[in-house]
Amino acid sequence: MLTIDSTVELANGVRMPRLGLGVWRLRPGGEAERTVLAALRLGYRLIDTASMYGNETDIGRAVRASGIPREQIFVTTKVWNDEQGYDNTKRAFHASLGRLGMDRVDLYLVHWPVRGKYKETYRAIEDLYEEGLVRAIGVSNFKVHHLQDLMASCRVKPMVNQIELHPLLTQRETVDFCRREGIVVESWSPIMQGRLDLPLLRELAEKYGKTPAQIVIRWHLQHGYVVIPKSSREERIAENSRVFDFELSGEDMRRIDGLNRNLRFGMDPDVV
Ligand SMILES: NC(=O)c1ccc[n+]([C@@H]2O[C@H](COP(=O)([O-])OP(=O)(O)OC[C@H]3O[C@@H](n4cnc5c(N)ncnc54)[C@H](OP(=O)(O)O)[C@@H]3O)[C@@H](O)[C@H]2O)c1
Repeated sequence: MLTIDSTVELANGVRMPRLGLGVWRLRPGGEAERTVLAALRLGYRLIDTASMYGNETDIGRAVRASGIPREQIFVTTKVWNDEQGYDNTKRAFHASLGRLGMDRVDLYLVHWPVRGKYKETYRAIEDLYEEGLVRAIGVSNFKVHHLQDLMASCRVKPMVNQIELHPLLTQRETVDFCRREGIVVESWSPIMQGRLDLPLLRELAEKYGKTPAQIVIRWHLQHGYVVIPKSSREERIAENSRVFDFELSGEDMRRIDGLNRNLRFGMDPDVV
């Protein structure tokens, strides 16, 4: 049975929570810190940030203010596109670590597959992993061809691929490839950036006595994805975590799968 404490085991044995809080667009200097603290108090144990979000300092403060032992909280951050390359990535990582005020991060990701750069970036991340500064490593926004290219020469296979994934963009090819390779799939913009007003989601919300956001988050969980909905509002953060007391039927899972339109709200990784 899934609970808010459920985790998935990554390829190296590290356990990653199944539900987390995304913090893109949470403003530094108060909002991000308050919001993360609220999520931690509600039982969230995974926080997904990035150097590009500009709020790592706040995330670090919230983790310390929570009083929860550091090892019980899973913190992800990412190297941004203009920080890529071997030396730059190492510098960017140490800058992130400094802003977070931590001595290690739980997961470090290549944010986007910047052409001509991502292999060197990943090589630096492998070194950081071997130095014990990151507990797990991976990529974000990698399509199958990016993964194949990276895996042809990397030393440590990526453990996670964080991709845009939701009912309007089901990414079967990438998901199936990651499954075969033992790479955990993590969904970003999982609730379609709040664009939840679809007739099927309204119908299922009514049927299960849940909200459209909860239906969609549960759909991610039942597919086996790690899911990181973002909200700046405490009541929605609580709502998004009340997804462990019901189960979508196989038929309803398939109906939600059928909403796929290959529709991206974010960038196409091939044009980055
Ligand atoms: N790797 C990447 O390239 C990448 C790219 C994008 C995002 N991400 C990560 O993924 C996380 C989530 O993605 P996202 O922030 O783009 O989108 P999202 O989580 O799909 O949606 C967030 C939006 O939905 C609204 N919302 C939250 N809970 C709701 C609810 N229960 N009912 C209705 N609306 C609700 C939020 O508004 P309020 O805040 O006003 O509640 C916000 O506008 C990010 O924060 C970030 O950590 C990664």
